[in-house]
Amino acid sequence: MNDTVKHPPADAAARCSASEYDALYRRSIEEPDAFWLEQAKRLDWYDAPTKAGEWSFDPVEIAWFSDGTLNLCHNCVDRHLPDHADRPALIFEADDPQLPGRTLTYADLHREVVQMANALKAIGVTRGERVTIYMPMVIEGVLAMLACARIGAIHSVVFGGFSPESLANRIEACESRFVVTADEGLRGGKAIPLKANVDAALDLDGPRVEGVLVVRHTGGDVSMTDGRDSWYHDVRSEEAVACEVMDAEDPLFILYTSGSTGKPKGVLHTTGGYALWAATTFYYTFDYRPGEVFWCSADIGWVTGHTYVTYGPLLNAGTSVVFEGVPNYPDHGRFWDVVDRHGVNVFYTAPTAIRALMREGDGFVTSRDLSSLRLLGTVGEPINPEAWRWYHDVVGGGRCPVVDTWWQTETGGHMITTLPYAHDMKPGSAGRPFFSVAPQLVDNDGKPLEGAAEGNLCITASWPGQARTVYGDHERFEQAYFSTYPGKYFTGDGCRRDDDGYYWITGRVDDVINVSGHRMGTAEVESALVLHPKVAEAAVVGYPHDIKGQGIYCYVTLNAGEDGSDDLAVQLRQWVRKEIGPIATPDRIHFADGLPKTRSGKIMRRILRKIAEDDYGSLGDTSTLADPSLVDRLIEGRQNR
Ligand code: WT7
Repeated sequence: MNDTVKHPPADAAARCSASEYDALYRRSIEEPDAFWLEQAKRLDWYDAPTKAGEWSFDPVEIAWFSDGTLNLCHNCVDRHLPDHADRPALIFEADDPQLPGRTLTYADLHREVVQMANALKAIGVTRGERVTIYMPMVIEGVLAMLACARIGAIHSVVFGGFSPESLANRIEACESRFVVTADEGLRGGKAIPLKANVDAALDLDGPRVEGVLVVRHTGGDVSMTDGRDSWYHDVRSEEAVACEVMDAEDPLFILYTSGSTGKPKGVLHTTGGYALWAATTFYYTFDYRPGEVFWCSADIGWVTGHTYVTYGPLLNAGTSVVFEGVPNYPDHGRFWDVVDRHGVNVFYTAPTAIRALMREGDGFVTSRDLSSLRLLGTVGEPINPEAWRWYHDVVGGGRCPVVDTWWQTETGGHMITTLPYAHDMKPGSAGRPFFSVAPQLVDNDGKPLEGAAEGNLCITASWPGQARTVYGDHERFEQAYFSTYPGKYFTGDGCRRDDDGYYWITGRVDDVINVSGHRMGTAEVESALVLHPKVAEAAVVGYPHDIKGQGIYCYVTLNAGEDGSDDLAVQLRQWVRKEIGPIATPDRIHFADGLPKTRSGKIMRRILRKIAEDDYGSLGDTSTLADPSLVDRLIEGRQNR
């Protein structure tokens, strides 16, 4: 388990050797302010900051570069024009490989971002407004993010796979009055009715939306509401739009993510610190060299897409691939076709995709020319060593370093990762902390653990890319991340540190599950289930799933007189899918006559998790249950399925 794979020999261009890492890391911990004020030179500031971190975790108040001013669109686009106007900035690859793609140089990107900014202004968006972006993976999605940054609006990107209900909740929660969408999206040859979903969301109680900007993408039929909806091609225009001068601590974006309780939280990132974290992590982790083609396969609806499709690459004057499709359409070689076609040098994807493609055999890989690849990355969940090996040996031909990057929506960018050419790789381990990241493992009482140990992963000091708050609910921010172990940021992850100081993430220790690299709150699935008229109670847990990492296992009790038929199981899966979105579709429905509860009524999830995992030997103490005999019936129900 603890085998080590040597990093390939560094060439002269490599960013960072082992000794340079040691020196930089030490300095970043001992003198974080000086370190980050130096790094801040990666960005173009109107007023260069003289202060770096000003923060406390108790009470929670976090600021970085508070006297600096900048504009992120300027940093991603305008400032590259003098030297790199003709360099490709974005390469679009359509879902259908027969359909034309398109490449935007930095000059093109500038022209198009200005048009998008004009369109936003035309529908009434002004500085400080929240703009919901509900888009397929097309260039205009990236343009919408950058155009918001340009005019000082705050974007809230909602993944196009979310249902109208989920979209409506997110629009309402941040009082967003504007939505940017497309007629339809395309994924694996199937049309996703984005505009119709927006219409359905806005028909629900809650959202108060004044302007909807619609990008024509597939040409599919949509209905337009007079006075509310505008076609992008009708309102875009060429007039110059200046970049707003923003304070470093002005909000840049909100991104909703699931937690262990309640509705998704609107994680808020601000401008200067996030930008610097995106720029610096992209530069070092991917060892990115000018002119290289970088491809992160994530959707802009997730933080990975924010930081490593849009901001990280563009802040480094890089070339970023925007891929609309899926890994298995038209066949299981699609990823490798894209690499081949565009000469991708650095490729970043999720373990779930690697596992799914590995299963289809090497032929889909070896039939494509992948010689352009220089470096590979993974993100989203722990990668099993077998998948790591396949990625390294077959996809990377044994010559590309693999970086396993651990981070979260709340961290803005990479936190723990091996640095290429500096650190030997251990398949399954995320490696070492990035600059100025101070991980600490604590036991359940919060006692710090030294040396090789396993515990709960906390971070003890702030870093520039840290989320600042939950939009509109700072108390929830404190409660969710800083109250379990006061004075520390608690990640929600379990983790082991080995003798070499490498970190091994063991998975979530809270009621969050990781399905195909996407965070899913079990409470959200439960709330959706109990909305069904036949359902009395539900408890949802994760269980090991070959491809998804974790699957969604739902224990359901029904109202008196209802029968747990196969039909009803199918209906309930559809129901959750419609309520939340396809990513939340339950894998298993287990009808039970009761849920294991303590005498005080608390559901004992530990037991439910064990049963879902088929691990009956270690159920622990069940004597405190109100009805201990229930456990045997649950096991029986599990085995009969
Ligand atoms: C959770 C964060 C960060 C972008 C993608 C997910 C898990 C993330 C790794 C990794 C092991 C990982 C953690 C984390 N996770 N990367 N390299 N190894 N686990 O972002 O939705 O905010 O989820 O994903 O459990 O807490 P997210």
